[in-house]
Amino acid sequence: MKKSIGCFVLSLGFVFCVSSVSYGGGIEDVAKSCMACHKEGQTGKKPDLKTLSKKDFMEKMQEYKEDDGSFMGKKAKALSDQQIKDLADYFSKK
Ligand code: HEC
Repeated sequence: MKKSIGCFVLSLGFVFCVSSVSYGGGIEDVAKSCMACHKEGQTGKKPDLKTLSKKDFMEKMQEYKEDDGSFMGKKAKALSDQQIKDLADYFSKK
């Protein structure tokens, strides 16, 4: 039960992120939507994105762009190359 509530909240986060991308929201808004799951100080499968190097971040996002099945695959496809670069800059500065 608890789990399905979590999924609901997560899917809302996803909707929010996609719409902020398609309406050309600032990169900071996109980054914040990522941090709904990639929380500050978090480690493991969805780490705090600031802990990844710029290079690792870019590589992971490119891999996700080629991956149709996963959630992050869909997410990465919704982002332009420029947005991925901007996100890498944003997270490496923080
Ligand atoms: C709904 C929750 C959620 C949101 C929102 C989300 N992610 Fe993720 N992310 C995940 C999960 C779950 C994984 C690990 C699953 C996997 O390996 O495919 C992951 C993995 C990643 C990884 C790989 C991390 C590693 O060390 O392997 C990167 C990079 C990443 N996400 C970037 C982003 C970016 C950028 C955004 C915002 C555009 C974002 N994520 C939004 C859930 C989310």
